[in-house]
Order: sequence, then C-alpha cells, then structure tokens
Amino acid sequence: MIGTSKQRDPTLPIRHQVGKLEDSLIREIAHEGMKDPDIIPLWFGEPDLPTPNFIISAANQALRDGHTFYAPNLGIPELRETLSTYMSELYKRQINVDRLAVTSAAMNGMMIIAETLIDPGDNIVAVTPVWPNFLRCVEIMSGEIRMVPLSGNTSGWKLDLDRLFAACNKETRAIYINSPNNPTGWVMERKQQRAVLDFCRDKGLWIISDEVYSRIIYDQSLAPSFIEIAEPEDLVIVINSFSKSWAMTGWRLGWVTGPPRLTPVIEKLNEYNVASPSSVAQHAGITAIRDGDNFIASMVDRYRLARDVIHQRLGSMSKVHMPQPAAAFYAFFSVDGMTDSRHFAKKLMHETKVGLAPGAAFGAGGENYLRICYAKSPEILSSALDRLAPVFNL
Ligand SMILES: Cc1ncc(COP(=O)(O)O)c(C=O)c1O
Repeated sequence: MIGTSKQRDPTLPIRHQVGKLEDSLIREIAHEGMKDPDIIPLWFGEPDLPTPNFIISAANQALRDGHTFYAPNLGIPELRETLSTYMSELYKRQINVDRLAVTSAAMNGMMIIAETLIDPGDNIVAVTPVWPNFLRCVEIMSGEIRMVPLSGNTSGWKLDLDRLFAACNKETRAIYINSPNNPTGWVMERKQQRAVLDFCRDKGLWIISDEVYSRIIYDQSLAPSFIEIAEPEDLVIVINSFSKSWAMTGWRLGWVTGPPRLTPVIEKLNEYNVASPSSVAQHAGITAIRDGDNFIASMVDRYRLARDVIHQRLGSMSKVHMPQPAAAFYAFFSVDGMTDSRHFAKKLMHETKVGLAPGAAFGAGGENYLRICYAKSPEILSSALDRLAPVFNL
C-alpha cells in the first residue's frame, strides 16, 4: 500500500477525510421534507421572494451585451470598483480594490480561505452555534475544529471571551466568528471585536469574520464589522455575500475583503476552484450594489415584522424558550423535553407538516434547539405557527 491509502475504504478509495465528512443535517431534513408538498419548508436560510426585477433586468441586459465569457479570477474590475466604493461608504473608511476578491458566493470564499490557511493538523476556533459549512471546509482540508459555544437564555446570547481565548493553542490558525449570527441572531459587540482583534494580533492568528447578514439587523442600521477596526494589513478576512441582502441565493455571488497581500493568493486559488464567478451574475451584482439600498430597507422592514410575529407567537408557546433575535432572519429556540433535535425535527415535520432545521446541525450549543427561518410571507408564517401550536403549547 502506498501513502495514506491504508485509511481508505478499498471499495471506494476516496480521501479518508472526505469519506467521514458529515452530511448536512439541514439538507437531510430538507431532502426528506421535499417529498411531501404539504410541508411548509422553513429549513433553509433564504428569503421567499425572488430576486427583485431591477437586478434581473441588469442580468438580461448583460447577457444581451455579450457578457457570457470567463471573467478575471478576482472578478470583473467594475464590480470590484463598485464594491470598493460601497464598502468605503458603508464603513466610512477607505477599502481599496486591492483588498477585494469576488467569489462564487460566500461558500466558495470559505473553501478558498480554508485551502489558504489550513495545513493538516491545524485548527480553527469557531464560535458556535453557527451555520456549519465553514467548519466542514476546514475538515475537508484535514484541519480540526474547536467549538466555543455562546450561552443563551431568553434575554439573549453571550460570548465568553476567556473561553474563546483559552480554546486557542499553538496549532490554531484562526478564529471564525459569524456575526450577525445564523442561527441565533446574536450580534457581536464592538468591545468584544476589539478584544478579539488585540488577542489575534498578539498571537499572530487570523480572524475570519463571516458578515453575510451585516445589513439584516433590526435595532441598528448596520452590524459592527471587523472592517471598521482592522488596519488593511491585519490578518482579518471578512466574508460577504449577495445571497441574503439582495435575495440572490441562487446566483452564487459574494466577495471577501482581506489584507492586500492575500488577494493574489485568492486570485490563484480561484483559478483552480471556479476560474471566475459567473460573468452575468457579476454584472447583475454591480446593479444590486448601486441601486439596492431601498430594496434592502424594505426587506429589513418585512423581516422585522416577521421577527416580531415569531417572537410574540412562537416565543409565548408554553414549551418554547427564545430570545428576541437581534439580526439575520432566524429564530433559534429550545423546546422543553427535546433531547435529540434531529429526531425531534423529523418527527415534528411529519406530524405538523412544518420543516425546521435541527439545532444539532449548528455545532456545540445547538443540540437542544430548533431553527426557523422567518424570511417568509405573513400568511406562510401564520399557518406554520398554527400547525406548530398544538405541539408547543401543551
Ligand atoms: C453565516 C452564513 N455564511 C455564509 C452563508 C453562505 O452564503 P452563500 O449563499 O453566499 O454561499 C450562509 C448561508 O446560509 C450563512 O448563513
């Protein structure tokens, strides 16, 4: 036997690391639920409304204008310029184009970051519960995940920085934080961001800040971002996406912001991942960024109403415990007597015809919870809540 082949299943000799990769628990429940058209699907994190017409028109125009070819690895210059202006205005500090790389949505950015940072045996310290895909990227690269759970009660979620720092050891390469957070709606405070930045500067660690929900926040205009406190040369990578704020989940478009010296590395890796993000999506993305603010504001108003309904109705059901989510479009709630969220979510789905994501999908701290995505119409939410009430209101 040669190399590591001894670890491989001889009937399907693929990398051990990939063979043992967990299936997504969110997909698992969705696949089961999609077979039944009567089920209300609230398992995925996406808005129910299609991409707005002004973005669709820009894409139509781009196709008619012949934008059907490969694009540069880092994205088309006009989109990068547009993102530079957008980020600079949003965060009130200059973000130069040489820090920006367009990716095929956040997911592709995450994989590239894992490919860039992780040698076998390295670890990432991650604040959980969290949407699990970046953790899986690290595992694909033969890295280890060290999870530091937020603590939650009905007044909100909290991060214990001492626990976070204590989880880092000499194999740690980065701290991964997703704020605003999927699934909890937790928003990291500026003071904690500064403390993490100081710690990472001192230890030479990367910060990977997943900020795909930065615009979807209810009591502030914008979530605090590491962009606002980091210097350009800091080892800080911020992940962004068109998926959530501009209702473009299917377009697969996002971007990462990092130190200028990282950009050529991403350029190289993008060649070997996807060559370039879709040309037509990028042209639509320019319009989304330039003309999208009113759309975002109207969506946030819509989600705020949905959040309030969910908090009032679901939150007052006798077996349910949840804080008011501060951002993103999820409620993460515990249920009295639930011990296995995966089993519970499946049983609940078949009994009530409402599909929710099991908390176990989101890592440490999520086991006793369920996640509902409330980026849906009032009618859909109301019938989902009607169906859930008999189980949660005993
Ligand atoms: C926290 C978080 N990061 C990243 C993503 C991925 O977004 P994209 O559609 O841009 O790949 C999601 C999607 O649900 C998410 O919740």
